Amino acid sequence: MKQAGVVMRLPATNYTDPNRFEAELKQVIKRVPIILGPSCEIPNPGDFKTLSVAGMSLIVSRIKDGNAHALINACSHRGTCLTQEENGNRKHFTCPYHGWSFSNAGDLLAISSEADFGVIDKNDYGLKSLPVYESAGLIWAILNPNSTVDIPAFLAGYDDMLEVFAFSDWVYVSKRTFAGPNWKIAYDGYLEYYHVPVLHRDSFGVDATNRGLYYTWGPHQHIKSPDTEKGHIATETLGYMTELIDKPEAEWDTETLTYGVWTVFPTTSIASFDAGGRGVMISQILPGESVGESITTQYYIMEKPPSDPEAAEKQFDFFQQVVMQEDYATGGSAQSALKEGGLDHVIFGRNEQGNQHFHQWVDRVLGADSDDELNSLFESAGRTGNEPC
Ligand code: FES
Ligand SMILES: [Fe+2]
Repeated sequence: MKQAGVVMRLPATNYTDPNRFEAELKQVIKRVPIILGPSCEIPNPGDFKTLSVAGMSLIVSRIKDGNAHALINACSHRGTCLTQEENGNRKHFTCPYHGWSFSNAGDLLAISSEADFGVIDKNDYGLKSLPVYESAGLIWAILNPNSTVDIPAFLAGYDDMLEVFAFSDWVYVSKRTFAGPNWKIAYDGYLEYYHVPVLHRDSFGVDATNRGLYYTWGPHQHIKSPDTEKGHIATETLGYMTELIDKPEAEWDTETLTYGVWTVFPTTSIASFDAGGRGVMISQILPGESVGESITTQYYIMEKPPSDPEAAEKQFDFFQQVVMQEDYATGGSAQSALKEGGLDHVIFGRNEQGNQHFHQWVDRVLGADSDDELNSLFESAGRTGNEPC
């Protein structure tokens, strides 16, 4: 198995410096495409949901023609939030302050007492609309309405791989949202298996693999386990390939091939599970209000509705508890040590190349001064192929 060429040392301040955190928000989170959720969360025309990304309140809606839109949830009159509802089905939104109304595509439909505003072109006062890209049953948006970032170049064909799941035909089942440490400390836990048999010994056993095989598409990665454990509790999540052994390649099934952890740069991780049917947990790890805080949303979607919904919810609660009480509790303790100057750097081994790849990409994106530079970066990375690294 190939490993990273070098051991990486990363300054502790990368996780604790408020100025760096602000730069990451501005240069990374608000410039590159971010997943806003699975398509099946808003399957029908009129469906919408709200969420907050990097302090920006958004409405994600599906309009009559079937397309998804991402709108800034701020009335164009004086900025009031149009809706606080978490989700619903509506063709239009009426502002609770003075009653302006907007279509679910963001068009301004009506102004109360319009004559008092003189000559006003409604086309100039629609809701701000973000660039949206829906592919592989996932909805991406860029938090800058004027962005010229090329989303397919950014994805480098990764969405073609994710398309194999056929998420657009799956069903949305459940969601959990909870707090964690610095967003990169939290995300680091999704990028290596090294910690699994140690930190998760009580949840997944000491016999879980600690090795990952990494495949990359630009900044995005897929991690599978080279181990062949049979019937392990974490077979789907870690990507054990036991079912493929002794079978000719033509008989390899796509379900087993999709096992493992799919990380979508910079904030998303997709991991398979079995909860009375095939499913994935899509974890969205977003920066919180300060450098030491993050907010994670776990979206649980399944190929078919779970055969026993109550048992499935219990399993989701279990996953949430593992992440909160094991991964994020550990991350929180590291956060305190790094903040208080307990270490001047952290170290990623040659076996932790998922983390190395991620942090290198954060630095690359931070260093690109314009959308054009970002596009060149993504285009050149996309041409490097997807060899295991
Ligand atoms: S702020 Fe929305 S109508 Fe006035
Ligand atoms: Fe973990």
